[in-house]
Amino acid sequence: MTIRVKNLNFFYGSSQALFDINLSAEDGDTIVLLGPSGAGKSTLIRTLNLLEVPQSGELSVANNQFNLSAKVDPKQIRQLRQDVGMVFQQYNLWPHMTIIQNLIEAPMKVLGITEQEARERAKGLLARLRLENYEDRFPLQLSGGQQQRVAIARALMMKPKVLLFDEPTAALDPEITAQIVSIIQELQQTGITQVIVTHEVSVAKKVANKVVYMEQGKIIEMGDARCFETPQTEQFKHYLSH
Ligand SMILES: Nc1ncnc2c1ncn2[C@@H]1O[C@H](COP(=O)(O)OP(=O)(O)OP(=O)(O)O)[C@@H](O)[C@H]1O
Ligand SMILES: [Mg+2]
Repeated sequence: MTIRVKNLNFFYGSSQALFDINLSAEDGDTIVLLGPSGAGKSTLIRTLNLLEVPQSGELSVANNQFNLSAKVDPKQIRQLRQDVGMVFQQYNLWPHMTIIQNLIEAPMKVLGITEQEARERAKGLLARLRLENYEDRFPLQLSGGQQQRVAIARALMMKPKVLLFDEPTAALDPEITAQIVSIIQELQQTGITQVIVTHEVSVAKKVANKVVYMEQGKIIEMGDARCFETPQTEQFKHYLSH
């Protein structure tokens, strides 16, 4: 199992944002997290690479295991982050670096690969994401959709086993959204495990093989893609109806 979350609780200060979360994913799964604003989707996805460290529970992601009731070792967190890539709604590219520099920086520094190897890997990914003519531009010289594809390429440079997306299509028009969806679908063929937060049910339907529906920090419904057609709870049914 690539992801296993057991009895996870998370607090911002004294305010509890996640309540007794349990979920799991196999290699190659694409889990979609849905729910109204404030449900805890971003908080949950951020706990999967310990950008937020829960106060209790167990977490196992790509063979990195944590008992969250005990103190978490920073070295182990760094290892986790190498195995887990993250793509945010805001692309978070380094504005003062060209596209190619954005891509090669972390793998050279963190994985210790040579510049030549990093450049080869970057060129392969840029071609795959249909960005081959953009490597010497700066991020602000690209459209939003192009920047989002660079952000995906940058995450893939680390050869992660798990890729997390928090609203990857939120600011994008339908055509660019369709491109991101097809990239997610292509990645499904590679066996990488993906977790995707989205507000767009149409996007969720195209990629999910597992669905998690949350409200107020709790998982209300969880199931395979059939639950889009036959939701098991009134809450998820209501969410899907608008
Ligand atoms: N840094 C923070 N400090 C305190 N409370 C926070 C913080 N970030 C989020 N929260 C609270 O935690 C709850 C869950 O927020 P979260 O951002 O995970 O929701 P979400 O489902 O991603 O919502 P959205 O769809 O609007 O992005 C909300 O009540 C929010 O106000
Ligand atoms: Mg959010």
